[in-house]
Amino acid sequence: MAVALVVAAGSGERLGAGRPKAFVDLAGRPMLAWSLDALHAAGISQIVVALPAGHDAPEGCIGVAGGTTRSESVRAALAAAPRGVDVVVHDAARPLVTAEHFRAALAALAGADCAIAAAPMTDTVKEAGEDRLVTATLDRQRLWAIQTPQAFRREALERALAVPDDVLAAATDDAWLVERTGGTVRVVESTPANFKVTTPHDLELAAYLLADRLPRPSAH
Ligand code: CTP
Ligand code: MG
Repeated sequence: MAVALVVAAGSGERLGAGRPKAFVDLAGRPMLAWSLDALHAAGISQIVVALPAGHDAPEGCIGVAGGTTRSESVRAALAAAPRGVDVVVHDAARPLVTAEHFRAALAALAGADCAIAAAPMTDTVKEAGEDRLVTATLDRQRLWAIQTPQAFRREALERALAVPDDVLAAATDDAWLVERTGGTVRVVESTPANFKVTTPHDLELAAYLLADRLPRPSAH
């Protein structure tokens, strides 16, 4: 059985909703609630949530105070997690996640230290210098846009997070921290539908898509 660490402690500056992003209303409930539903549907009931100041843990979850960076929030949540089980890390900012994403990431841990949800690139990706002149066109077949969930062998994540604060602050995902300690990281194919809510436009799109998942009143 796995334990989930849900990071929800960010302030949501780019969304600009005047409150932490994970607690913004999304199709009638706090954004965080959608990820918790998907975890429960995947049969994962041990959940630690890294929280912003002034917010309590949702029912049935262990709450911890988040850190100043995302990875510090992951480290704080891991410290409060029950020992001896695999760990799956997820951003509350990806409310369109499904139970299948969690199942697939955990299943792909067999023979790897870490397994991460990732969408194949659909755009062509180029590299350009500061002068905006293109220096290379990358081979799209080999490129993946990385998401969460990210599943870890617990020891691999502990080792990865045991780094100085400046290294931790430079990490945009935890899998990179595993890569730099020589661990094996596997990508698990996901879709762009599991996008991260960053801007007001993303929130509008997520609300439109999630309205469909709300329980419908019966016809009688
Ligand atoms: N996060 C966190 N602790 C932090 C920073 C971020 O737990 N100190 C979480 C966010 O709550 C989010 C996820 O990490 O679920 C991804 O971060 P991001 O999308 O950047 O969210 P915010 O930091 O809240 O947004 P912004 O960068 O626009 O302020
Ligand atoms: Mg952020």
